[in-house]
Parts: sequence; C-alpha cells; structure tokens
Amino acid sequence: MKRPRISFVFSALVVMGVLVSCGPADGLPKGGPSGLIPAPQSVALGSGHFECSGSLKVVWPADWASEQEVITGWCEQANIALDPHAGPTFRFAYSESIRGDEAYRLVVSREEVTVEAATAEGLFRGWITLRKMMPVECESGCSQGFSLPVLTLNDAPVLEHRGLLLDGCRHFQDVAFVKKQIDLLALHGMNVLHWHLTEDQGWRMEVEALPKLTQIGAWRTEADGSQHGGFYSKQDIREVVAYAQARHIEVIPEIEMPGHSSAAIAAYPSLGCTGLPLEVPARWGVFKDIYCAGNDSTLAFLEVVLDEVVALFPGPRIHIGGDEAPKVRWTSCPKCQRRIQEEGLANEEELQRWFIERMGRYLASKGKTIIGWDEILEGGLPEGAAVQSWRGMGGAAEAVHLGADVIVSPTSHCYLDYPLRSTDLEEAYSFNPLPDSLTHGPGRILGGEGNMWTEHAPQPEVESKVYPRLTALAEVYWSGPGHTSKEGAYVDFLERLDHHYQRMDALGVQYGLESPPFSLETKEADGDVQAQVVALGRGVEGRGRWDGLVTDSVAAGEPFVVEGPGWIRMEVGRRGQWTGQQVAFPVDGHDGAFQPLALSYVPSPWYTGGGDGALVDGKLGTADFRDGAWQAQQGVDMSATLDLGRPEKIAEVAVGTYLYQDAWIFLPASVLWEGSVDGVQWESLARIAVGEVLARDDRQERIPLSAIVRPGSLPARYVRMTAVNAGVCPDWHAAAGSESWLFLDEMVVRTE
Ligand code: ACM
Ligand code: ZN
Repeated sequence: MKRPRISFVFSALVVMGVLVSCGPADGLPKGGPSGLIPAPQSVALGSGHFECSGSLKVVWPADWASEQEVITGWCEQANIALDPHAGPTFRFAYSESIRGDEAYRLVVSREEVTVEAATAEGLFRGWITLRKMMPVECESGCSQGFSLPVLTLNDAPVLEHRGLLLDGCRHFQDVAFVKKQIDLLALHGMNVLHWHLTEDQGWRMEVEALPKLTQIGAWRTEADGSQHGGFYSKQDIREVVAYAQARHIEVIPEIEMPGHSSAAIAAYPSLGCTGLPLEVPARWGVFKDIYCAGNDSTLAFLEVVLDEVVALFPGPRIHIGGDEAPKVRWTSCPKCQRRIQEEGLANEEELQRWFIERMGRYLASKGKTIIGWDEILEGGLPEGAAVQSWRGMGGAAEAVHLGADVIVSPTSHCYLDYPLRSTDLEEAYSFNPLPDSLTHGPGRILGGEGNMWTEHAPQPEVESKVYPRLTALAEVYWSGPGHTSKEGAYVDFLERLDHHYQRMDALGVQYGLESPPFSLETKEADGDVQAQVVALGRGVEGRGRWDGLVTDSVAAGEPFVVEGPGWIRMEVGRRGQWTGQQVAFPVDGHDGAFQPLALSYVPSPWYTGGGDGALVDGKLGTADFRDGAWQAQQGVDMSATLDLGRPEKIAEVAVGTYLYQDAWIFLPASVLWEGSVDGVQWESLARIAVGEVLARDDRQERIPLSAIVRPGSLPARYVRMTAVNAGVCPDWHAAAGSESWLFLDEMVVRTE
C-alpha cells in the first residue's frame, strides 16, 4: 500500500488558464482539458489536433476484457464506430515507466491518443479522463465526430481511497440506480462504493441461510400504514459488484454491528439481549436493542452472515459499522455481564472492542480486514481495524496516533444528507483530509468519503443531495488539498463545474443546488412588516407568491408588505431554468412584530432564531427545527415581554412550538399570556394548558398554540408570554431524567 503523495505541485490549471481558451469556435471541445474535474496533476499543450470523424480504431491490452466492454458500450451510444483495422487510434498500453496503481499518462498527438499506465486500473482512470475531454454531446451521440487538442497529461490521485457511502437501508434504491451511481463515481475518479446494507430500518442483503433477515427484516410499516422495503438478491449483488469491478470501483459492504441492528433482531429476536420480539422500526434514531455480545449464538449468526458476505464481495475489506451502539441492554444482560467477567474486560466499551476484535479475527481468517466507525476506538483500537472518522477529525487523529489506517468523512464537510445551509458546495470543497497534524503518525490517512444517509432521501432525491457536493469532494480526494486550498482554486473549480454540469445533464443526473437558494429578510417599514426573499448562490432566481389573507405574486429581491399569517412560496430557478423545486417561508405580519422585546433567558447558541428579537421578527419556524427560525433553550421556562408602545385591546395571541421527543424536544407544559398597562400590575389574558407528557408521540412538527383573549380583558401596553418547560424526559424516554428542550418561533399578538 502506498502512502498518500502530498508533495506534488498542481500547477496544471493555472497553466491551462493561460494557454487555453477552449470553445467550439477554436476547434477544441468545449471545456476541453481545462474543464476536467478532478483537476489533473499536469497538462502540457502542444499544437494541432487529433481528429476523429466518426470511426475509431481502439487498441487494448489482451487482459482488458471487462474494460473493453465498458468502452465499447460507451462508443456505441456515442455513435463512434470501432474499426479494428484502420483510422484514428486510441491506444491503451501498459508501461512500467508509470509509477503508482492509478497513475496514467495520456498523450494526444495528431495521429493517435495513447493512454499508458502500469495497471489496468490506471488505464481505466486514463480512459475516463479521455472521455471527459470529448464533447459533452458524445454522451448521447457525437454526430460530427470530435477533435482533441494535442497534449501530454500526467495524472495520479493524491489519496488512494475515494468513496461514496450509500445508505440503501433507510430508503431502498433499485439495482439500476446503484449502477448509475457507480458510473458516476467512475466519472469522478472515485474508486469506492461503501454500500451500507444493514440498518435498524431495513436489512437489505439476502442471506440464504437466514431467510427471515429479508422476509421480515427488509420491510417496515410506515406511520401511514404503507410498507417500505426491498432487498438485494445474491444475483443483484453479484451484478452490482461485477459492474463496479469493470469500472475499478471497490464495493465495500457495511454490515452493522453491534448497533443499528433492530431489523435483524426483528427477524430473529434471540439475537438481542432481551429475546423479546420487536418491529422493524419506521422511526429514525439510535435504538437500545443491539446484538447481545454474551450470546454465543448471536456470534455464530454473524459468522453465518459474514460467510455469505465474504463469498459475494471479493474486495479485501468489510465495514462492520460499530457506531452509535448504546450499551444499556448490555449493562443489564446477565450473558453480556458474564462475558465481561470471563474475558477480564473492564466495562461495556471494552466488551464492544472484544466483540469487534472477535469478528475481525473471523474475517481475517477469510483474508479480509475490517473498517469501523470511530466509536470502535472507545474500548481501545481493535487489532487490525481501520477507522472511519465521522465525528469530526478527532477519531482520525487518535487512530493515526495508534497506527491505524484511516478514512475520513467528518460531519463538518462530508455529510451529503445534511442540508446545504450546514454544508454547501464551498464548504465541501474546503475540506482538508490531510491536515499536517495527521500526516506524521504511525498510521495514515488512506482517503475520504462522502456519506449519503437516506433517512430523508427516498431514491428520487438522492442525487440532488450527493451532487454537486461529491464533485467537490472528488477533486479534494483526487487532486488533493495542495490543489484545492490554492488561491483561486474554488473559482476555477466553479468554472469547470459549469462545463461538468452539461455532462451531468446529458447523463440525466438530478444534481441539486450549490447553496441554499434563498434567504428571507423581514423588517419594520412604516408600521408594517416588510418581507424580501433574497436569492443566494450562482445563477439562482426566484419567483413565487404570497399566500396569506390575500394572495399576490412575489419576485426575489423585491420587498413587499406582509399582513397576517401566510406563506411565501418560491420556485427555484437556476441557470435560466425553473427547477421545479419549491421553497416556502411561513411568515406572520402581526401587531407585535418588531416591537421592543425583553427575554427572561439567554437563547441557546445553537438555536438563537436569528437573535434576541427572533420572537417578533415575523418569521415562523418550519417543520425543520434547524431551519434557523427557531429559538430554544433546555431545561428552563422561556418568558418574553413585549412593549406595544401604548395600551391596545388584545384580541388573539399565539406561539409556535415544536415537538420531536426523540430529539428531546417537548411541548411546553403550558403557555401563560398576561397583559399590563404599566409593566407592574399584570392581568391574565389567556392560558393554554398542554399537560403532562404521558406517552411517546412520534411527530416531528411545528405545533401552533393559539388562544382568543379572555373577553373583558383590559387594554395592555405590555404583553408577557411564559412557556413552561415540560421538565425532564419521562421514564419511558431513552434519555429519561435529562432536561428537555423547548422550542419557540414567534410571539404572535393581534390587537382589535
Ligand atoms: C454515522 O453517521 N452514524 C456513522
Ligand atoms: Zn446481552
């Protein structure tokens, strides 16, 4: 295994910027080599062109059977006829002079194009670059033939592991979709599909010896009564693996243990500590029921599963998960406790290490090594394990220090399921997988991944989350931080991306936006609430409507007055086209908006709602409690006092609250509304009782709590709202006894 080469100087694109002005007018393919993503290490342009008018001779190495099939298939749909005897030539040839498994040299002369590499893999990476140098039209059929500029291109990846984690469990994707993702990985110079196949909410791999895993574990009943599920038959998996192999992509299956195993336990309840039956959950989160580490038959079960995994996946590595495994069941399980004693372990964390090591040894006996999420460091690094760091880069640092191989995909930059407001394209591009502190330990950073978890992404939405952010990560991993952190590199990347988008369009990739499309600004203007939708990001336009007491059209950038409650619904335009995507902002132009406000609490720095005036900014919260409009605190009552400036007869009051018990967010026990003329004597205006939390409620939504003010109430200049915290999480809750969160979005006051 080679060490990542971090010392190369990537000057190619600066050179290209000076020398090439690509475009159809000067005979070069639009984008040409300067449109390449990831950026190659070096390109030297010559003069003249290689011309192909529609027929090509391709010469390949004798052992290049599956690659031949891939390239022949591509040429066919590109309308390029292959003539074995004559014509302009593409020549793929092994050369010992090229150093590095994936390195290649691509030389375009007037007569022929030569790709040289020491390995089949290197040749294939060279082919992909060659394909990306051809006009975009060739993706569907280059009727006019094509020409390529004479040049010499030398290239090799900086990081040897460049992957996408695809979670096929939370939402199932069909085989055709998975194959398309493999094609796209290859197009981006990536070489790993980390295929997440087992989860709480679904077991996706057929295991012949254990049929209930897919008969029961692959299906869940959603809250609306519908079924979601599916699984990959052995034949499906063989097909996917072969498809990936032909494109030099390693498929690393992830078989989660000991946590995230509810679906397996639903199929075979004896795998858990309690032995009690459970349903395949239809909720997201982390579950207490995990594999029993004290039960020999559970270990035997996993060995049977792994036998079939090993037989299906020829790659050298298997990911065994290891993340988010609560130990509550192990703590009270006699078998697990006996195991701790017998094995001389200090605690449940060490039991997890024992468990992972035991599975690692089993897999080592089959010639495989294991990868686990960074939690596997908690009881000490299991022998022989590689570590995938996701909770920041701390796990990577520790693992490198301990001498392990490391893959990085921290939530800060690599979580493709996160909304764009958490990780936009620029943030992904700024990721440094090789910080200085991690390049000097006994262990080493093999590479990185982008993680696509699918809780909130059924198949049709996956690509819009993966791309274009994975395009950025692909360049980070291939071209390296030495390239991507250079002055001007991101601007240069965006220029190339504009060309790359055309290829993705031709390939039918449903890529998403680069950043959140809009922000909403509100302010007070002449006693009214004025709202303005601001378009963010490159080439984004917006048009829409205000749906309130009246309806009206709205354009991004144009302020308008909001009266009463309603929604601003915007359509997203990008690069001159309406995308079909909609963004909606709930707003309320109420009488208390933008009046002076005093808070009894300091909002949580994570949920300020936009500042101390958030409860009277006219912006309501959405069904996403991280949307920036919510203000929250943990474990305290939230009281706010509003000054209307003069006594007013109050007609109605309302506050938006949020409910998401799994995230420790509870409704307030009650909300009290009081009025006062002088700020000293207070009178009750309304009281909204919510009550004690008696049971689990699976909702994740905004709950408005409104009240008509008690008839006969005196006019009030000051209005005080007190939302009473629900107290600690109740006994049935996973975090029983912990302080609950209270979320509020707006303190709505309507006068008569
Ligand atoms: C993870 O995101 N739980 C690895
Ligand atoms: Zn147990």
